[in-house]
Amino acid sequence: MRPNSETSYYITTPIYYVNDVPHIGHAYTTVAADILARYKRLEGYQVFFLTGTDEHGQKVEKAAQERGVDPKAHCDEMVVRFQSLWKRLNISNNDFIRTTEIRHKKVVQKILQDLYDRGEIYQDNYDGWYCIPCERFWTEKDLIEGKCPDCLRLVTEISEKNYFFRMSKYQSWLIEYIEKNERFIFPPSRRNEILGFLRSPLEDLCISRPKKRLKWGIEIPFDTEYVTYVWFDALINYVSGIGYGSEEKPFSQFWLQATHLIGKDILTTHTVYWPTMLKAIGLTPPKMVFAHGWWTIEGKKMSKSLQNVVEPNRLIDTYGVDSVRYFLMREVPFGTDGDFSDSAMVHRINSDLANDLGNLFSRALSMVVKYFDGLIPAPSNLQELDRGFQEVSEKVLPQLSKQMDDLAFNRALGSIWEIVNAGNKYIDETAPWALAKAEKDRPRLGTVLYQTLESLRIIALLLAAFIPSTSEKIWSQLGMEENLWEQKIKESGKWGGLKPKKKVAKPTPLFPRIDPTKISQGA
Ligand code: MSP
Repeated sequence: MRPNSETSYYITTPIYYVNDVPHIGHAYTTVAADILARYKRLEGYQVFFLTGTDEHGQKVEKAAQERGVDPKAHCDEMVVRFQSLWKRLNISNNDFIRTTEIRHKKVVQKILQDLYDRGEIYQDNYDGWYCIPCERFWTEKDLIEGKCPDCLRLVTEISEKNYFFRMSKYQSWLIEYIEKNERFIFPPSRRNEILGFLRSPLEDLCISRPKKRLKWGIEIPFDTEYVTYVWFDALINYVSGIGYGSEEKPFSQFWLQATHLIGKDILTTHTVYWPTMLKAIGLTPPKMVFAHGWWTIEGKKMSKSLQNVVEPNRLIDTYGVDSVRYFLMREVPFGTDGDFSDSAMVHRINSDLANDLGNLFSRALSMVVKYFDGLIPAPSNLQELDRGFQEVSEKVLPQLSKQMDDLAFNRALGSIWEIVNAGNKYIDETAPWALAKAEKDRPRLGTVLYQTLESLRIIALLLAAFIPSTSEKIWSQLGMEENLWEQKIKESGKWGGLKPKKKVAKPTPLFPRIDPTKISQGA
């Protein structure tokens, strides 16, 4: 495919606050984005996948103060925790943006100055209530029993001069935009939520904080007494990270194909603030904003005070990276809330990965080693049963492509598992161990084993985005010399790509079974 906007795909994650260490919620969005990025590359798209960190604002300033370190030094230390976790999770991001980088700050200031010059930003007095943890202003009527409607914590009364972005004037444009572009906010329940929210009048957005209250932010270019509101700063990463206003190339190629993956808690900032900001700047809104659900931990909200924060590094150490990636995507539909527990994780690994996939792989390879000295046999005289098996995989391919476009990761895995299950059933029905008993059945035995290994080749290709290291292992153990990541699903996913006569090795288990009694909570 030629590199143009249509064959390009731009995927982002939220940029994470560096006030804390990464947890399962951060890993969730990033793994989902990585799977989408890898899958789209395998479909032949040119993909730009951006993640990063949100380093300004009160939360980060406070975290640094509590540790008695300078905010920048704090960020430099914390950012490494995110970057090294993404390495361990096999995240294939093309770039990593930090909002304290010059390339980002320059773009934020340029946009602010431009909006100010065009009268889109004005100064006014602000009298009202402020929630420090959420860094948001509220009016009297927003409050719930005098508390922040978002986090239900106490708010502070303030009166000060600030700068405002004329967000309200874009309200009817935004409603129309959301109504016309059905896939802009996904899933549809979130779209309805925002359309409902937009039935009340939209207010202008306060985009500054006086330095006397907050120092840690990007200075407002037309008033040095103020810094930029952290959300106004953070959202701009999606364009500064691909060179908006500087290197035109990645921006012009990728912006129109942007998909933002976010959690449901930050839906308003991404589907109200961000598109109106873009409209004022003169840019098109992203193609899709997909809001996923939240993980609870054994039925409870994850929180530091409950000491139930699930650290991805612990999960990787206990279960291995591919098991973690698989579980997060398989357990709950992307878009709904889910519950994490170690027992659910062990159950998934044992049943789907060790039993279904692992057994198919080791049974098939062991028989090729045993009956054909490890040389892949050639197929001959296909029977109904063989063709039926082949058809399962041919049916799955187009289904999968649609499911991935809808970010329906758990359904996509369900479809791939149709092939895995059909493979195990095929072995049971054809009983190769019985065929191995008579010389006259050798051609038939060869056909059955070829078909099974071929299904595994396709499974490895389709699962590559989800469980990259395991897929690479299956692929190379099948004697495939071509680089897995250079394959195109449409061509390489066709039945028959496996080459007979290639040598396969004795298999080692892909996913050893985990003894559930050996896993304790928080192990
Ligand atoms: N810095 C902002 C995002 C700015 S994007 C321009 C932010 N950062 S965050 O670190 O607090 O959260 C990042 C993401 O983690 C959010 O999408 C949020 O939904 C997600 N999660 C935090 N806890 C979560 C769970 N318990 N479960 C799933 N995701 C959750 O917000």
